Amino acid sequence: MKIATIVGARPQFIKAAPVSKLIRENSGTAEFLIHTGQHYDRNMSDIFFREMGIPEPDVNIGIGSGSHGRQTGEMLIQIEDILIKEKPDKVLVYGDTNSTLAGSLAACKLHIPIAHVESGLRSFNRTMPEEHNRVVADHCSDILFCPTRTAVSNLAHEGISQGVHLVGDTMLDAVRQFSEIGEKKSTILKTLDLTPKEYVLATVHRPYNTDNPENLFNIFKAFQQLERTVILPVHPRTRLKLRELGGEHVVEHQSNNLKLIDPVGYLDMLVLEKNAHMIMTDSGGIQKEAYFFAVPCITLRPETEWIETVESGWNVLAGAIPDKIAQAAASTSWPSEIENLFGDGDAAAKIVPLLA
Ligand code: UD1
Ligand code: UDP
Repeated sequence: MKIATIVGARPQFIKAAPVSKLIRENSGTAEFLIHTGQHYDRNMSDIFFREMGIPEPDVNIGIGSGSHGRQTGEMLIQIEDILIKEKPDKVLVYGDTNSTLAGSLAACKLHIPIAHVESGLRSFNRTMPEEHNRVVADHCSDILFCPTRTAVSNLAHEGISQGVHLVGDTMLDAVRQFSEIGEKKSTILKTLDLTPKEYVLATVHRPYNTDNPENLFNIFKAFQQLERTVILPVHPRTRLKLRELGGEHVVEHQSNNLKLIDPVGYLDMLVLEKNAHMIMTDSGGIQKEAYFFAVPCITLRPETEWIETVESGWNVLAGAIPDKIAQAAASTSWPSEIENLFGDGDAAAKIVPLLA
């Protein structure tokens, strides 16, 4: 069975790594790996392939950046050509990016069965590009791998019950496989002169925040008012927006506690997360990783698709409102334990036999 895996953005390399490894180890399955090139900077792409031992893509479309329509449309055209030539038995897509959407549409039009990993997630906010992408991908898919019970139930509400499998989260597989390696290899705490459990780790990249100057400045203001060091690996989208707003200079020079750094590799990121006092983020994946490491999380969005993390008490939705962020940051009433809401770290081992 030939499986065409389609990835393109940072979180997809991480989600796919444990599954691709098992597809290649399984005698009944072979993988053809398509990288759309949606993310292309060394520290947004290559570093993950290298650190996580993901094989070189069989093809990199090199699509680069662009508007949603142009980027998705050009990927669709090129993925279609590749699928016609390679004739895979199944197409495997991950998450909710424009690469997911283009891959799903291309396969759907060619009647190639689609498997979607991280299926059934919903924020119920249709202004998010990711929400359209995941809804379309799910409705095109034949095999739907859900990380949580909520995801299964979201699909049921949309009339999808066939081909749905609750397998857990492949990001947990990745954390289990790479966290110890990170502890051994990463020197990031020393490099940044950080004391474990004394700093806040933050990331911001969602258009809801980056493309709204008021939200972006409110968030940075909230960071600067914290009494702890805040480490912020800056996503290229955010760097660009800060530059456009003339904010990069202001942010970097008016604050002693806020440290902007380039995006880091996965191993450094796991170490930064695990040792953080608290995480503040609008990332989907990082909300979950905060939970895996039992680190309190403040989500810089008004809603989340990872609702279990909020219900369990480990995550607070603060949006881009400085008072809410400050209030959550001052809270001391965090739970003491985590549960296995995202499975047992063996999602890939469940996915591959179902694919085969
Ligand atoms: C994309 C996904 C988002 C995901 C995020 C993970 C969509 C619609 N969005 O958002 O769901 O959370 O990836 O990080 O697919 N850029 C670079 N170098 C790169 C990549 C991007 O400079 O390697 C800059 C470009 O200016 C680009 C901007 O970042 O225009 C945004 O990149 P894009 O891939 O369009 O969306 P993300 O914000 O990364
Ligand atoms: N990540 C990383 N380095 C960084 C920022 C994030 O390795 O500088 C990892 C993070 O640990 C998580 C994934 O990238 O596994 C999340 O990706 P991102 O926040 O870009 O996207 P989202 O999850 O919001 O779609």
